[in-house]
Amino acid sequence: MSNMDQQNILQQLEQIQQEASAALASASTTEETRAWHSEYLGSKGRLTGILRSLGSLSPQERPLVGKRANEIKLALESALESRQATLELTELETARSKERVDVTLPGRPQTVGKIHPTTRVLREIYAIFGSMGFQIYDSPEVETDEYNFQFLNMPPGHPARDMWDTFYTTDPELLLRTHTSPGQVHAMRQYAPETIRVILPGKCFRYEPVSARSESMFYQVEGLAVGKNITFSDLKGVMTSFAEQLYGPGHAMRFRKSYFPFTEPSVEVDIACVLCNGKGCPICKYTGWLEILGAGMVHPHVLQAGGYDPAEYSGFAFGMGPERIAMLKYGIDDIRYFFSNDVRFLERIG
Ligand code: FA5
Repeated sequence: MSNMDQQNILQQLEQIQQEASAALASASTTEETRAWHSEYLGSKGRLTGILRSLGSLSPQERPLVGKRANEIKLALESALESRQATLELTELETARSKERVDVTLPGRPQTVGKIHPTTRVLREIYAIFGSMGFQIYDSPEVETDEYNFQFLNMPPGHPARDMWDTFYTTDPELLLRTHTSPGQVHAMRQYAPETIRVILPGKCFRYEPVSARSESMFYQVEGLAVGKNITFSDLKGVMTSFAEQLYGPGHAMRFRKSYFPFTEPSVEVDIACVLCNGKGCPICKYTGWLEILGAGMVHPHVLQAGGYDPAEYSGFAFGMGPERIAMLKYGIDDIRYFFSNDVRFLERIG
């Protein structure tokens, strides 16, 4: 190896040092300094390449070049360290100032959920009847023809079935219940011959036109009392007390004679329409009254189907629509809002 080679390598070393120092000074992120490290000092870096080639120098030339190469390596390493330290500090400060929490900013308002009006009314109904000694009884939404109709005095072909057309399943015996009344027979069969005081809340389904006051799915709360010496006055007393607790004392209500195959006698109970103050509006069909429930004395055939002897036992039953009750209570003019799933509906209710 000639003196020329030694000079040449020394020159290269100086050049690398100059270039590397300039490049390091212009590295503006720690990421860039890592790239810089692999370019100059990494295993495939330019300085490492030179250090590897020292083997080709003669033993006389090697110490001088080797010494210089190591000096440059050390100098570059320490320059890298201090550059990285400076950049890390700057980066940390930038990150800190970006992420700083401005405690003077106004908070984001939290939207608070509301309980659905049907649930609200259901809870009120539970509380009122609970205070009168009624327990909650759960009964199925999918029923048999027997429970929904036959035990309730509506054999196949009975004209009253037209009032309660429903959705059928692929099994001709199974249907979605049109009312909660089939639950009366379930409760009686479970408790006979004990006395009964239950309410049965749940969903009902009807195949009928949907309008401002009628949905194809809605809730009902059935009520049933069975025992000895239960009379129509007990029914009237319970209904009047219920309406007073729900709408406040003195709110006008009326009993209208009616017909249900499973009660005898039967009535419907109306509440003075609070939306129009009895003047007449689309909700009350311009009558000033809104029907909230059907009721009556349990028909002897139904008592028998439930396992009670009608000669010894009597009872009353009622079925009310919580959505209709909620409409009156909260001034809601269309029942379709209840299940249309628009959250603005909940915001409207105070
Ligand atoms: C019945 O369903 C009887 N089972 C009620 C009954 C029970 C009578 C026990 C006697 C003894 P009706 O079809 O009238 O009756 O419904 C009762 C209540 O459910 C109505 O007063 C109304 O508040 C509510 N309701 C009925 N149909 C709908 C509907 N399509 N949408 C919303 N609510 C309804």
